[in-house]
Amino acid sequence: MVQDALTQKQTSPGAKSIPTLKNYIAGKWVESNSGKTAPNVNPANTAEVLCMTPLSTREEARAAIVAAKEAFPKWKATPAPVRGRMLFKALHLMQDRLEDLAVALTKEEGKILRESRGEIQRALNIMEFTAGEGRRLRGSTIPSELPNTFIYTVRQPIGVCGLITPWNFPVAIPIWKIAPALLAGNTVVFKPASYTPITAVKIVEIFEEAGFPAGVLNIVMGGGSVVGDEIVNHPDVHALSFTGSNDVGCALNEQASRRGIRVQCEMGGKNPVVVLADADLNLAVEGSVLGGFGSTGQRCTASSRVIVEESIADKLIEMMLARTKKYRVGDGMDPQVDMGPSVDEGQMNTVLTYIDIGKSEGARLLTGGKRLTDGERARGFFVEPTLFDNVTMDMRIAQEEIFGPVISILRAKDFEEAIEIANNVKFGLSASLYTMDMSKAMRFVELSDVGKVHINSPTIGGEAQAPFGGIKATGIGPRECGSEVFEFYTEIKAVYIDYTGKKRETSIY
Ligand code: UN1
Repeated sequence: MVQDALTQKQTSPGAKSIPTLKNYIAGKWVESNSGKTAPNVNPANTAEVLCMTPLSTREEARAAIVAAKEAFPKWKATPAPVRGRMLFKALHLMQDRLEDLAVALTKEEGKILRESRGEIQRALNIMEFTAGEGRRLRGSTIPSELPNTFIYTVRQPIGVCGLITPWNFPVAIPIWKIAPALLAGNTVVFKPASYTPITAVKIVEIFEEAGFPAGVLNIVMGGGSVVGDEIVNHPDVHALSFTGSNDVGCALNEQASRRGIRVQCEMGGKNPVVVLADADLNLAVEGSVLGGFGSTGQRCTASSRVIVEESIADKLIEMMLARTKKYRVGDGMDPQVDMGPSVDEGQMNTVLTYIDIGKSEGARLLTGGKRLTDGERARGFFVEPTLFDNVTMDMRIAQEEIFGPVISILRAKDFEEAIEIANNVKFGLSASLYTMDMSKAMRFVELSDVGKVHINSPTIGGEAQAPFGGIKATGIGPRECGSEVFEFYTEIKAVYIDYTGKKRETSIY
């Protein structure tokens, strides 16, 4: 959900005295000379301006690309195990700063501190997995049809990678792009989301301290239409990895493809949780609620649809209702709180608009649906966790990504119909099934049109060593995470070595 929406964040009267972040280009922290900044506001308390974010210029983005290009040959020539060792160093530094990063994350993005810690742990896991790959980064050996011939492949870096990341996982997603890009020998220009620059800067500081050479990792903050556009269209950027909204991703893909570069876009989701009559309902309720309301529903893997077999629908809904009503909404720094705010006013208004759409489409609002403005919550962008019943497949709240704490419940007469409903969206990221029936579970795995399936666990999350990504409108290009990530960040070179030592009798092909 990258949005070029800096001006939407509210300006506070005290904003002028707040420090402005610096870009990191060619190994130096440099002030932007654009003269333009945007306030970075705590979405749980809009009176708190955390920093000013520079709205950098095209020239600054270009300088970062030039720095990355110049640093590339030497970084490419650095052995992969040595690059991996540096990444281990960064991992340990991040480990030491887990709490500091988690607090920064909660303050600028809004998710509760427990979730922020979890996200950073996930980033650490990714760094651990990726750093270890420095000692593997395997190619393959291939038999030749010719005698005395050896064929093998090597993985080589691509060059300068442009990484454009969203605000909703401002540590884990940058790490799952930066770590494999650098480990593979590429250099990077990183444009973080405008709402979450502090965590981005802290990440880059860690890589700087870990000893990554000047120019290998650069950060330029600013708007998508200026900094993002320069990265996407600059002839020296050879790979582009983007996570964010569908509209932006498709537009970037079109532009980058015109230059023939490698593109990877990870975009929206409308992920189903299917609950069958034989399911452990307590487990299903916990999974659905965690999947739907976790991170305030602001994740592409959110469980935004619960599809339930009609025979147990009333029972499940009653349990979900009871669970939802217990949800405590507030400032994510408060350990009693279960769910934080929307990231900004625009996002909150989108959620509220979808709730109105759901009501006008004839869905039954079971609970929630309103902004919370009592007491201290008046200072933030809080929306109640919301449940809709009697949602049908054709409704917009069953089809479109809301990116907020709204779960649409759809009733299906049986397993077959549930699968049909589950697949009947343009997205294809994640799907869950709650059942104890092994045969149905395996059929669900086979028939789900998604990039990852969960049986008896929520649609969210993913482990560092497993590939992550989706099909249909969700994904363009190879998967992120897992060993598969190197399909994106490396070129494969096939090498033929003829050790005959004399002229061959025949030369085929
Ligand atoms: C998760 O749910 O585990 O932008 C992470 C997103 C996804 C990341 C989801 N790319 O929400």
